[in-house]
Amino acid sequence: MTKEEARSIIIEKKQELGKRLIILGHHYQSDEVIAYADYVGDSLELARKASQVEEAGHIVFCGVFFMAESAAILAPEKSVYIPDFSAGCPLADMAEPGDVQKAWEIITEEGPGVVPVTYVNSSARIKAFCGRHGGIVCTSGNARRIFEWAFDRADRIFFMPDMNLGRNTARQMGIPGEQIVLWDPEKEHGGLGSDELARARVVLWKGWCPVHWPKFTPEDVRTLKEKQPGLEVIVHPESDPQTVEASGRSGSTARILEVVKATPPGGKLAIGTEANMVKRAARENPSIQIVPLREVYCDDMARITVEKLARVLLHLGDDTFRVTVEPDVARDALSALERMLRV
Ligand code: 13P
Ligand code: SF4
Repeated sequence: MTKEEARSIIIEKKQELGKRLIILGHHYQSDEVIAYADYVGDSLELARKASQVEEAGHIVFCGVFFMAESAAILAPEKSVYIPDFSAGCPLADMAEPGDVQKAWEIITEEGPGVVPVTYVNSSARIKAFCGRHGGIVCTSGNARRIFEWAFDRADRIFFMPDMNLGRNTARQMGIPGEQIVLWDPEKEHGGLGSDELARARVVLWKGWCPVHWPKFTPEDVRTLKEKQPGLEVIVHPESDPQTVEASGRSGSTARILEVVKATPPGGKLAIGTEANMVKRAARENPSIQIVPLREVYCDDMARITVEKLARVLLHLGDDTFRVTVEPDVARDALSALERMLRV
């Protein structure tokens, strides 16, 4: 199928189905895909949207698998599709349920009062694990509020899988470094002594997003700021704490775009996140000078193309591209997701 053919199929199907079809697009999608999205957002906004969609029976998720899976859990009466099942997330894959269960047993043995919190960038099984243990999901847009929710219920948080988001959030809350420990699933006992675990208020899973870490560095920030006086910097909180500190600001993709909107004409802004989004922000806001902190792309997000979007639209109503979740996993994951949406 050529791009032209794909575009005509998409336009035709959107016209034919009207409000019965909704296409959701994450900010990291390419311009050619975003052009057909009915709603564009960060993970939190898209999860909310999926839970609120009323008329549409079909939701096509242009993003990565965990996002479509969360939509399928939040909208069980709808059919949710992803244009390419291989659009995964290496960060989500870093927390494997068997390893998480083993860690949980040790962490809870070393001291009671722990709430498990998972970043939405995780599998349905990890969300279900949190749901079963009184835990919750967070996104980069609400991590601090969710940590506060968890600390209202327990003394300690077991956070997975993104060590950088976890540490950035804990630091923002003023938790001292010695009370934040890193659980390395490759090591015996997570690589931690019993005493370290017992005094930890936050136990972080050793996972990271390869798009944001270690690609963005504090040196990148300092070099750009030196070259361009007056330049402001904002990075995604999947970047490490040193880079966040050097930048002075961090936020979810939606928050970054709010900062773009609030920048006055003539302002200069460097953005440390996926480059599709940064370049689009630059094109859409010509009165300010927007540059990527470094030009990095998410290969998984890039798997979604107009050709694949057209293909999925030709298969609505059959199960070829439909995302389904086992009922018991979906039930427990839903309780963790719903807790988040209520906070
Ligand atoms: P946001 O929730 O900020 O959109 O981030 C999602 C993501 O995958 C970042 O890498
Ligand atoms: Fe996953 Fe990173 Fe891609 Fe986001 S940018 S989907 S965290 S690999």
